[in-house]
Amino acid sequence: MSTPVLALGRSSFGDPANKGNLLPIEEAHALLHEWVPNERLRLHMKQVAAVMKAWATEREGADETTAGKWELAGLLHDADWEKHPEAHCRIIIEELEKRNIDPEILHCIASHGPKHFGVEPQNTMDRMIYVFDELSGFIHAAALIRPTRYEGMDVKGILKKLKTPSFAAQVSRDDINDAISRVDTPLEEIIQFIIDHQKDVQ
Ligand SMILES: [Fe+2]
Ligand SMILES: [Fe+2]
Repeated sequence: MSTPVLALGRSSFGDPANKGNLLPIEEAHALLHEWVPNERLRLHMKQVAAVMKAWATEREGADETTAGKWELAGLLHDADWEKHPEAHCRIIIEELEKRNIDPEILHCIASHGPKHFGVEPQNTMDRMIYVFDELSGFIHAAALIRPTRYEGMDVKGILKKLKTPSFAAQVSRDDINDAISRVDTPLEEIIQFIIDHQKDVQ
């Protein structure tokens, strides 16, 4: 098997002693603004953050701190993409390691593209960021071409677009299928959850 270009070359991140250390959410948003001038890319991360937090709370029964971890991982997972595409994931993880952030958040960020970064999702938080990342962007792309955006959007329409290779061609259907194969929730249910929870994110 060939080594992916962006492979991180490691599977352990951060220091276990930092468990429970979260970046205050205002600080995370400030960092996002500093690192990601592109508004559309920032919106992608805010959407993934909202969906991650909602899933943790509503589907995993997570407490506030745990839901905050899911949210932070979503919010920062692509924070180095715009300025350092050639070192995507590596830079943001190093930055967060310097800030002594909870290792689970770092591992989650590193899990958002197993084929790219060479890190396998281990827990539910890891698996869900992988599930949500491409699908969230795909659903937003579908909303942008609808006159009513998210209003009246249904799962069927999204499934149809997923089967249309020319629509949002850069979104890897293989990654989506691989991510979905790792969780117990059907694709249809995940799509509906994303529609419901990212439609109002700005
Ligand atoms: Fe990414
Ligand atoms: Fe992403």
